[in-house]
Amino acid sequence: MIDKVKNYLSEVEKFVATKEDEIEQFRIKYLSKKGGIITDLFTDFKNVPSEEKKEFGQFLNQLKDSVSDKINFLKLSLSSTDDKISDIDLSLTAENSKLGSRHPISLTRNEITDIFTRLGFTISEGPEMEDDYHVFSALNFPPEHPARDMQDTFFIEKNPDILLRTHTSSVQVRVMENQKPPIRTISPGRVFRNEAISARAHCIFHQIEGLYIDKNVSFADLKQTLMYFAKEMFGEETKIRLRPSYFPFTEPSAEMDISCSLCGGKGCNVCKYTGWLEILGCGMVDPNVLESNGIDSTIYTGFAFGMGIERIAMLKHGIKDLRLFFENDLRFLSQFR
Ligand code: DAH
Repeated sequence: MIDKVKNYLSEVEKFVATKEDEIEQFRIKYLSKKGGIITDLFTDFKNVPSEEKKEFGQFLNQLKDSVSDKINFLKLSLSSTDDKISDIDLSLTAENSKLGSRHPISLTRNEITDIFTRLGFTISEGPEMEDDYHVFSALNFPPEHPARDMQDTFFIEKNPDILLRTHTSSVQVRVMENQKPPIRTISPGRVFRNEAISARAHCIFHQIEGLYIDKNVSFADLKQTLMYFAKEMFGEETKIRLRPSYFPFTEPSAEMDISCSLCGGKGCNVCKYTGWLEILGCGMVDPNVLESNGIDSTIYTGFAFGMGIERIAMLKHGIKDLRLFFENDLRFLSQFR
């Protein structure tokens, strides 16, 4: 008798169903009041010899529990697969997930840094929040220079002055503090100026600074380096010209123009019919700057240059409004794949 119950137990354990009515058949087979296996076994109970009654009763209860557990389990798993099937069409082809694109400023920065790293320049960075010394004093800015005015510079604290750097030239100072010549480095980064936002100006923008210090570095080296950069960036046909200028940290100083890449130098509305576009400031590092950073100006000379990344990107891609770089409009950004 007990063996019979044990056989039913293992049958119940093995039972599987994929449809509602298979479960119902299973329920009727075991639990039906008329002719159900369990009902019949309970009826048989009185014929079991009394010394086996206890053990038989335990097995019988176990069988009854496992039948109802099985029914519950099968019902639950059927209903959950039903839900999934109705929500998800597994035969659908997968949708391509949309890839983002790099920001045009990052792309332009990478393009510029690639050109200079090919010439052996390293990349260095400095803090955006700076002190007066690194942004102005160590770069030979006289105390009354207008850039030190609240009108141009965002101050965080006064006395001692803590401010947002107005140019990446401050990284020159940080590099000279930590490295001995020869120094050949470029410093990309974000800069801040207290300016009204317009199509041509923003209070936050990006620059790349260059610095080259060694023995016998001349203005000819500066010119040659910048000409290589201009041709790599804007095309082999590009011409450059240097106009005398003034910066406190370079002597002599110059501003560099490139021939207008849109009209090829013939004159158009982008170059205001001059054929030339201004792209950067440069010069020979002022001996005062070398000396105040502990570099002997009788042994070493150097050149430096600084350019705005937004300006380069605008010229390269014919972008007329600088604000587009900061608005994160996907219609603009997705054009730079
Ligand atoms: N720091 C200057 C600016 O923000 C740009 C510049 C000009 C950097 C001449 C230089 C340089 O290193 O030699 O306008």
